[in-house]
Amino acid sequence: MSSEGVESRLAAVSSDEFRHACSRFATGIAVAACQDENGVPHGLTISSFSSVSLEPPLILICLGHAVTNIEEFRRARYFGVSFLREDQRHVSERFARKGHEHDRFDGIAWYSGESGAPLIANGLAAIECAAYQRLTSGDHDIFVGEVIRAAVQDGPPLIHFASRYRRLSEE
Ligand SMILES: Cc1cc2nc3c(=O)[nH]c(=O)nc-3n(C[C@H](O)[C@H](O)[C@H](O)COP(=O)(O)O)c2cc1C
Repeated sequence: MSSEGVESRLAAVSSDEFRHACSRFATGIAVAACQDENGVPHGLTISSFSSVSLEPPLILICLGHAVTNIEEFRRARYFGVSFLREDQRHVSERFARKGHEHDRFDGIAWYSGESGAPLIANGLAAIECAAYQRLTSGDHDIFVGEVIRAAVQDGPPLIHFASRYRRLSEE
C-alpha cells in the first residue's frame, strides 16, 4: 500500500497537522544505541518504540533518514533500547542534541550488554536486540529487533506528551 492509493479528492494532511496529532499520543522515552566496528557507541533519544511480536519476541524502533548515526544502526548486528526514568530527562536531552553525536555518552552512566549493545544505566528497562529486519518507510527506517535479553527495574517513567516532558500522575 502507498500514498498513490489515497483517493485524490482527499486532501493530504499538512506536516504541522500530522505532527500535532502525533504529539497527542503520550509515549515513554528511550535511548536506542549500537556500537560500530571499532566498539564506539552511537545513540539517540527515541519515542518510536513498539512491541511487535511475542513469538519470536520482536520490537521496533523508527529512525529518520537524517539521523547522523543511521548508518551505524544499519550496519549493527545488535542494538540496545533503554527506557528512561523520570529523573533521566537530562539523558533524553543529551541524546537528542543535534551536532553532539560524538560526545553523547560522556559523563553518562552506561554499560555494554552481553551482545555489546550500549545500554543506559539505571533505566526502567534495558533491552538487547539482534537485528532482525529493516524496512524503509517514507523518510524513516523501521528497525525490527529480536529481543535477546531484557532487564527491568521499578520506578516512574519519563513521559513525552504534547511536545513536553511529563510525569506520570497516578490516581
Ligand atoms: C522526545 C523525543 C523523541 C524522539 N524520537 C525520535 C524517534 O523515534 N526517531 C528519530 O529518528 N528521532 C527521534 N527524536 C529525535 C532524535 O533524538 C534527534 O533528532 C537526533 O538524535 C538529533 O541528532 P542527530 O540527527 O545528530 O542524530 C526524538 C527526540 C525527542 C526529544
